[in-house]
Amino acid sequence: MAIERYRIWSTPGTASSDEEIHSDTSSELTELHPDEFPRYFDERNGRLFHSHGHSPYPLPVDADEQHRQNRQHALLYSLIGAHFKGPVRDVLRPVHGLQRQAVDLGTGTGRWVMDVAGQFPHVRFSGIDIVPIQTRHPLRNVWFEMHDLDEPLGYAPGSVDLIHARDIHLAVRDFPRLLREVARALRPGGLYISGEWFGYPVMKDGSRISERAPRIHRFFDLVNYYLGRDGIGFVAASIPEWVRLSGAFVGMRVEDVYVPIGSENLDPRSAGERLKANLRVFATSMQLWLVEKRYCGRAAAQDLVNGFILEVNTIEGMELQYRVVYARKA
Ligand SMILES: C[S@@+](CC[C@H](N)C(=O)[O-])C[C@H]1O[C@@H](n2cnc3c(N)ncnc32)[C@H](O)[C@@H]1O
Repeated sequence: MAIERYRIWSTPGTASSDEEIHSDTSSELTELHPDEFPRYFDERNGRLFHSHGHSPYPLPVDADEQHRQNRQHALLYSLIGAHFKGPVRDVLRPVHGLQRQAVDLGTGTGRWVMDVAGQFPHVRFSGIDIVPIQTRHPLRNVWFEMHDLDEPLGYAPGSVDLIHARDIHLAVRDFPRLLREVARALRPGGLYISGEWFGYPVMKDGSRISERAPRIHRFFDLVNYYLGRDGIGFVAASIPEWVRLSGAFVGMRVEDVYVPIGSENLDPRSAGERLKANLRVFATSMQLWLVEKRYCGRAAAQDLVNGFILEVNTIEGMELQYRVVYARKA
């Protein structure tokens, strides 16, 4: 299948040519020059969004959001102690004459790709997104590509060793379909890794969040309801079942990490304070989305988010669950 995909133009000498690290995509790859970047963006209400007609993705893609993604990347690294879980070293081990290939779906700023590609210089890494917000100076084994996850991935069947997808629940309408694409692209024994947040925080002591933090609960109730109407939503709880039902994977492991919201010492480098900062940015972005979509009036959305931020800043003992699922292609 010939799918046109774009590789982001990079400074000569920083990234490799296809002669150096071979591609096994079945689709054409053309270079995207910076002059073409503006058409990928849409500026509204002082913020920058993707301009992709079909994607339901509701968040901005501007500096605030990129900073949120990078902070989340650092937060997850500090909690997990690595950029991945699962047998990554095994699936990417060098074999003479074989070009290993790894793909990151919905790569965002591409920090994950750059950090992991640095550890595996013999592997060809691709980061796929619908907006060119990645570095223009990728490592020599890294390609950033503009491609819609709603379309076939475009890799030759059985050609990919590792597919990673983190925090893409708002980008994908039909996750089981994407899983079928992932399974098609992976070689037997290849590895799929997913990382997703749950849609509601919980209280560490088991008490009800709806009673202890009613405005946070109301915010997530409303946002989750309207995301669902747009055909997207939080998927962390469903992924293990979808992986199982696909019948395409073996050896699935599910690992949950509970991240505190806030910290006692308010240290901005702590996981809790980083998550708190990210939730504030997330809520502010969703406020704009609720108003633009006419799901909420301006004043009601402002009140919703003010209440959310007030409780995030003041209520102690909350945590948010992050779920990693990994499995090998049968
Ligand atoms: C929350 S960010 C996560 C970024 C990255 N995976 C990380 O963990 O740092 C979701 C990304 O999905 C991208 N996205 C949204 N819709 C998409 C689509 N249809 N195809 C590919 N990427 C998409 C967005 O542009 C955004 O960069």
